[in-house]
Amino acid sequence: NYEGTVYDAIGGSATIHLLVEAFYERVGKHPDLAPIFPDDLTETARKQKQFLSQFLGGPAYYTEEHGHPMLRARHLPFEITPTRKDAWLSCMREALEEAGVEEPYRSAIFERLTYTAHHMMNTPEDRK
Ligand code: HEM
Repeated sequence: NYEGTVYDAIGGSATIHLLVEAFYERVGKHPDLAPIFPDDLTETARKQKQFLSQFLGGPAYYTEEHGHPMLRARHLPFEITPTRKDAWLSCMREALEEAGVEEPYRSAIFERLTYTAHHMMNTPEDRK
């Protein structure tokens, strides 16, 4: 029972699905992001749905299948510059809108993701 969670308030798994599909649609076409992502984003999207579900208070699918997220460590193989962080967040901002996530949840989620995205940076700009 996920009553009272952000996950539930925004529409649960159906909304996470729309959000993640809208997000990777943009990532796959973004000149700063596409080069570091796989060509086939199916598996990436599947994991992101699992992760965002638990991040927003829903079922802990990510941890059930993959263990502790350790997101910063899992991102170390990729050069995440300030430019890529901004690109990731701009794709997410548009995806939240396309998925129909309403206020105040849209801004609250975006704020938490902004914080997490900052934490993921691991490469200064000039090494891009
Ligand atoms: C995986 C890039 C931020 C969650 C990945 C992958 C890349 C990437 C290249 C590997 C894709 C694959 O091989 O399937 C980035 C960039 C970010 C960023 C450039 C900019 C800051 C975030 C944030 C979150 C996140 C803020 C949390 C909401 C994930 C998850 C995975 C992932 C859950 C899958 C990890 C796994 O393989 O188990 N990311 N990411 N990422 N990212 Fe990010």
